[in-house]
Amino acid sequence: MKQMRKSNLSIFAVVFSLFLVGIIMYNDNVKSIAYLTSSSPFSSLFEDGGAVELPPEECDLFTGKWVFDNKTHPLYKEEQCEFLTEQVTCLRNGRKDSLFQNWRWQPRDCSLPKFKARVLLEKLRNKRLMFVGDSLNRNQWESMVCLVQSVVPPGRKSLNQTGSLTTFQIQDYNATVEFYWAPFLVESNSDDPRKHSIIDRIIMPESIEKHAVNWKDVDFLVFNSYIWWMNTVSIKVLRGSFDEGDTEYDEIRRPIAYERVLRTWGDWVDHHIDPLRTTVFFMSMSPLHIKSSDWGNPDGILCALETTPILNKSMVFNVGTNYRLFSEIGTDYRLFSSVENVTQSMKVPIRFLNITALSEYRKDAHTSVYTIKQGKLLTQEQQNDPATYADCIHWCLPGLPDTWNEILYTHIISKSS
Ligand SMILES: *[C@@H]1O[C@H](CO)[C@@H](O)[C@H](O)[C@H]1NC(C)=O
Ligand SMILES: *[C@@H]1O[C@H](CO)[C@@H](O)[C@H](O)[C@H]1NC(C)=O
Ligand SMILES: *[C@@H]1O[C@H](CO)[C@@H](O)[C@H](O)[C@H]1NC(C)=O
Ligand SMILES: *[C@@H]1O[C@H](CO)[C@@H](O)[C@H](O)[C@H]1NC(C)=O
Ligand SMILES: *[C@@H]1O[C@H](CO)[C@@H](O)[C@H](O)[C@H]1NC(C)=O
Ligand SMILES: *[C@@H]1O[C@H](CO)[C@@H](O)[C@H](O)[C@H]1NC(C)=O
Repeated sequence: MKQMRKSNLSIFAVVFSLFLVGIIMYNDNVKSIAYLTSSSPFSSLFEDGGAVELPPEECDLFTGKWVFDNKTHPLYKEEQCEFLTEQVTCLRNGRKDSLFQNWRWQPRDCSLPKFKARVLLEKLRNKRLMFVGDSLNRNQWESMVCLVQSVVPPGRKSLNQTGSLTTFQIQDYNATVEFYWAPFLVESNSDDPRKHSIIDRIIMPESIEKHAVNWKDVDFLVFNSYIWWMNTVSIKVLRGSFDEGDTEYDEIRRPIAYERVLRTWGDWVDHHIDPLRTTVFFMSMSPLHIKSSDWGNPDGILCALETTPILNKSMVFNVGTNYRLFSEIGTDYRLFSSVENVTQSMKVPIRFLNITALSEYRKDAHTSVYTIKQGKLLTQEQQNDPATYADCIHWCLPGLPDTWNEILYTHIISKSS
């Protein structure tokens, strides 16, 4: 660690002197500084503290393409973020190819603004940003912690887990980036943030208060809920209450139960959130990649052998509200449509971050066998058996969730005041 900081310092010294050289050259030769600021890897230093160019508000950030760009991506290095958990540090866990880190999302009609941690932290000063949901939202939260922590000196940031809530605190800004575990949003028998590997998942679709009290007075709330719904075609709904010791349940079809949960969530938000204070986001579903023939690789093993995004433009990912129930790789778009419908009928404006289709391209970006299972790093033997062990649900970091956060960042910094 010490070593690293020292070398950072000397890089800084070199960069700073380049900066001076740049200024001196500027007098004589406008081109040289233009060169330095636009294409040198040091351009962030010039721009930090400067204005950020925001895309026009009406620009659709979700329609676009992936472009290979190893100049600007990844936005941080795995070893630079001490807060990454073993679940997502794919390179450290043995993944050999790293090109999956080099793709940048390019919206068709505009560009995402350059990510600047200080600009975001200024917006979060004296505020709380909280992700609420399942392990995919935790994946995104980890990414966000890494994106902001780079500009915070050691000793001025800390992590604290208490119950379902994990809080990353940035002292100098009095800001927090938090994660709250609630995989179904409502109460369920899977609410223990550690011990929740439960086969028989049971929910209480009308009970949210126990979780939701923890969401009050948060300034930016980012919700999701998807993966826990996908195990079975129907979901068990408790008759009565866990507190009363009730165990009888009904089996309800997934989209019906999902909509009931969303209505409960929407009612709570409408009654407890002051939209003048709090901005509410809902992340659309994070897709899985488990059937390689879906993307034309019959010899694949789930997502395990994939090193490039899907580049076939004619694949059907987004299906529009009523066009088709599942995308070509098996994402259940009925739930997508449910979120659209419910959020549109609410009083509090909800920003629906439509990351599903752009993520469907990224069969290359999952943790696969370079991850943990039940808290332990996969053994070599397990890594050699991807058909059994590959995780094609979660994502390596740095990686795809950084892009989701670039989009979230765009919204947060665009907010006036
Ligand atoms: C979501 O984004 C995809 C492209 O990534 C687009 O085709 C689709 O229409 C969008 N859906 C909504 C509801 O915005
Ligand atoms: C970036 O990619 C280009 C083209 O593949 C390659 O020539 C170059 O060496 C790469 N640069 C880095 C820093 O990886
Ligand atoms: C620090 O942040 C908290 C949580 O957002 C806020 O309630 C409090 O007023 C802030 N403290 C100061 C001194 O602004
Ligand atoms: C973590 O947060 C809890 C609840 O706010 C607090 O009681 C506890 O002292 C904190 N622990 C650390 C190590 O900061
Ligand atoms: C591209 O995707 C379309 C739609 O799934 C499929 O019909 C076609 O065969 C694919 N092309 C290639 C080259 O894989
Ligand atoms: C969403 O609303 C549309 C239009 O009212 C309806 O056709 C569709 O079935 C709804 N979807 C869900 C999942 O409720």
